[in-house]
Amino acid sequence: MSDNPLNIRQVHHMEFYVGNAKQADYYYRNAFGFSRRAYSGLETGDREKTSYVLQQGTVRLVMTTPHNPDSHISEHIRKHGDGVRDIALEVDDADHAYEMALTRGAVSNEAPHTLKDDSGEVRRASVRVYGDTIHSFIARRKYEGPFLPGFIESNLDGRDAGLLRIDHFVANVELGRMLEWEEWYKKVFGFTRFLTFDDKDISTEFTALNSVVMANDSRSIKFPINEAAPGRRKSQIEEYIDGYYGPGVQHIALLTNEIIPTIKKLRDNGVEFLEVPDTYYEELGSRVGSIDEDMEKLRDLRILVDRDDKGYLLQLFTRPVEDRPTLFFEIIQRKGCQGFGKGNFRALFEAIEREQARRGNLV
Ligand code: FE2
Repeated sequence: MSDNPLNIRQVHHMEFYVGNAKQADYYYRNAFGFSRRAYSGLETGDREKTSYVLQQGTVRLVMTTPHNPDSHISEHIRKHGDGVRDIALEVDDADHAYEMALTRGAVSNEAPHTLKDDSGEVRRASVRVYGDTIHSFIARRKYEGPFLPGFIESNLDGRDAGLLRIDHFVANVELGRMLEWEEWYKKVFGFTRFLTFDDKDISTEFTALNSVVMANDSRSIKFPINEAAPGRRKSQIEEYIDGYYGPGVQHIALLTNEIIPTIKKLRDNGVEFLEVPDTYYEELGSRVGSIDEDMEKLRDLRILVDRDDKGYLLQLFTRPVEDRPTLFFEIIQRKGCQGFGKGNFRALFEAIEREQARRGNLV
């Protein structure tokens, strides 16, 4: 059996369905430092929806809003609020990826079709995964346009914050369904389990969760799948699923090579991060040992550090970027460590629980 039966290369883009794409475009440019690179909407002949394509490093986010209330996009927003609809994957051959996925047990969302404009053509298909989330398969055939057929170039530079690529993204699924989805990604995509965390790794006095990290053969795509584990109070996973009305993408981790200036810039731009208590920094030196960064700067910016046998990582988590307690972002810098910040889980989840309690959701 091939390790990559669908010939998946990497994440092509992530598409969000949002209530107001014009304002989301402004927010991701001015707060997160993305630059607008392409546009599609009424002016380009799309009567159904408007989309803005935002890019920073190799990270491409597409913000899409519907024009009418009967659209499936409107239904998605009515149910979920703003959130990730599509984790689109670049493949060698979309027809092959789609046929292979269906043969291996995937449910179709959209059969293969050709998208075309003056810049060339692209073949696209999609399958359904957890909740209302889908994976598109995208195969470019010498396509020269700024994004995909139907989009025009639209350049508006944002305040670049040094974000380079997607490090990982995370799915929250219902209690008891994590292993089912692990099996799905193994069987359908040929991915393997890269790491496991259980409630002994990820628990506080009140709540716990389980997580398996899936990865493709080249490790260019890594994504944990989380489920709640039984605890005394409602976990952050349950809060997410209640708020999103189903499973979905919980966070997207973006890689930087210089986390100190990146976090400084994002904070200056008004991005809100989880509050890390002073006590975290009192024990940090003894926990992670010697690191290159100035501890004072890390403390000032509230950056978290974790170490494993291969090195260390620095990370920080935003608050949810919607009013529902759903999707948030992680900013991460890796110095050898390929983990996910296990040593920070407790401090992090306690910080999340304080915010959950303020929302009346730690019950
Ligand atoms: Fe993460």
